[in-house]
Amino acid sequence: MKRLLTGVKPTGIAHLGNYFGAIKPAIELSKNADYECYYFIADYHALTTVQDKEKLYDYTYQIACTWLACGLDPQKVVLYKQSDVPQTFELSTILSNLTPKGLMNRAHAYKAKVEANEQANEDKDYGVNMGLYCYPILMTADILLMDANYVPVGVDQKQHVEIARDVASYFNKRFGNTFILPEELVPEGVGALVGLDGRKMSKSYGNTIPIFADEKTLRKLVNKIVTDSTAPDEPKSLDNTIFKLYKLFATKQQTEEFAEKLQKGISWGEAKSELFDLMNTTLAPMREKYNYLQEHREIVDEILKQGGKKAREYAQKTIKKVREAIGVVEVNK
Ligand code: ADP
Ligand code: TRP
Repeated sequence: MKRLLTGVKPTGIAHLGNYFGAIKPAIELSKNADYECYYFIADYHALTTVQDKEKLYDYTYQIACTWLACGLDPQKVVLYKQSDVPQTFELSTILSNLTPKGLMNRAHAYKAKVEANEQANEDKDYGVNMGLYCYPILMTADILLMDANYVPVGVDQKQHVEIARDVASYFNKRFGNTFILPEELVPEGVGALVGLDGRKMSKSYGNTIPIFADEKTLRKLVNKIVTDSTAPDEPKSLDNTIFKLYKLFATKQQTEEFAEKLQKGISWGEAKSELFDLMNTTLAPMREKYNYLQEHREIVDEILKQGGKKAREYAQKTIKKVREAIGVVEVNK
C-alpha cells in the first residue's frame, strides 16, 4: 500500500482554482484502493501571512468543511490539522540542521519576494519572516513524518517536494536509511485556471469564484467574467474564460454542444447564463453540505480529532526512529 499525503493552507476562502487544481484531484486519488491517504490543514504554514486570531480560526474550519463538502471520505482519508501533530515541529528543528541555507535561498516563494524587493529598491529581506524562509523545511517535516510515497500538489509546489526529497536523502546518507524519498504527483492537463479578469485565478488578484458562493453571488460573479467585444450574433472564439470554465463542469457532449452554440453565435449574456446554470447544478449540493458542516462544527471537530489521533500515533513512531538514528539519549524507556 502506497501512502499519499497533501496539505492545504488555511489562508482564505477556497476558490475554483483550488478546487480543480488541488482539492478535486486529491479526492479522486483517495478513491483508489491501493492508496492510504493523509490529508491535512497546514495551519502553521498559514502563519507566515495570516496573523489574525479570528481569521486563522475561521479559515481553518473553512478548509476542513471544504475538504468534506467536496467529497473527502473521512473513513478512507486521515484528515487532521498540522497543529495537532507536534512531532512535526520537532522533526522540522532536526531537519533544519541538514538543510543547506543555499537551498532555502533558491526556494521559489522566498526568491520571488526577494526579487520583488529588489525591483522596489527595498532591502532584499524586507517583509521576509523566518516562517517564510524556512517554509520548505516545515513542509519537508510534514511529508517525511508520515512516510509519504506520493505528494499530490499543484505545479507551484513541485519544487517544495523536490526539496523534501533532497533533505530526506541528506539525512539517510548521514544517519542511515530512515526516510522514504517522496515524489510529487502533479495532475496532468490541469493548467492554471483563469479568473474573472482573465489572469490566473488567485486570492492575491481578487479575481476568484469561491466554490461555495451563494447562488446570487455566483450569478453576479459569472456575469463579471471579462469577455471580448464580439457582437451577440457573431461567432465566438473558444479561447475565452466562459468556455474554459464550462468545460471543467461539463460532460464531453455538453462541451461539444456549447462549443457549437458559441461558434454559431450566441450572445455573451446567454453564454454566461448557460455557464451559471451548469455550475450551479454541480455546486449547489456541495454548497449545501458545506453550509451544514459550518453550522455543525462538532461533526468537523470529531473528524479532526480522530484524524489527529491517528496522525500523532504514526508520527510518534517516526520520531522515535529519528531520535535513535541521530543519537538522542532516551531516559524515559
Ligand atoms: P492562491 O493563489 O489563491 O493563494 P494557493 O496558493 O493557496 O492559492 O493554492 C492552493 C492550491 O491550489 C495549490 O496547490 C495550487 O496549485 C492550487 N491552485 C491555486 N490557484 C490555482 C489556479 N488558478 N489553477 C489551478 N490550481 C490552482
Ligand atoms: N505548501 C502547500 C501550499 O502552499 C501546503 C502544504 C504544506 C503541503 N505542507 C504540505 C502540501 C505537505 C503538500 C505536502 O499549497
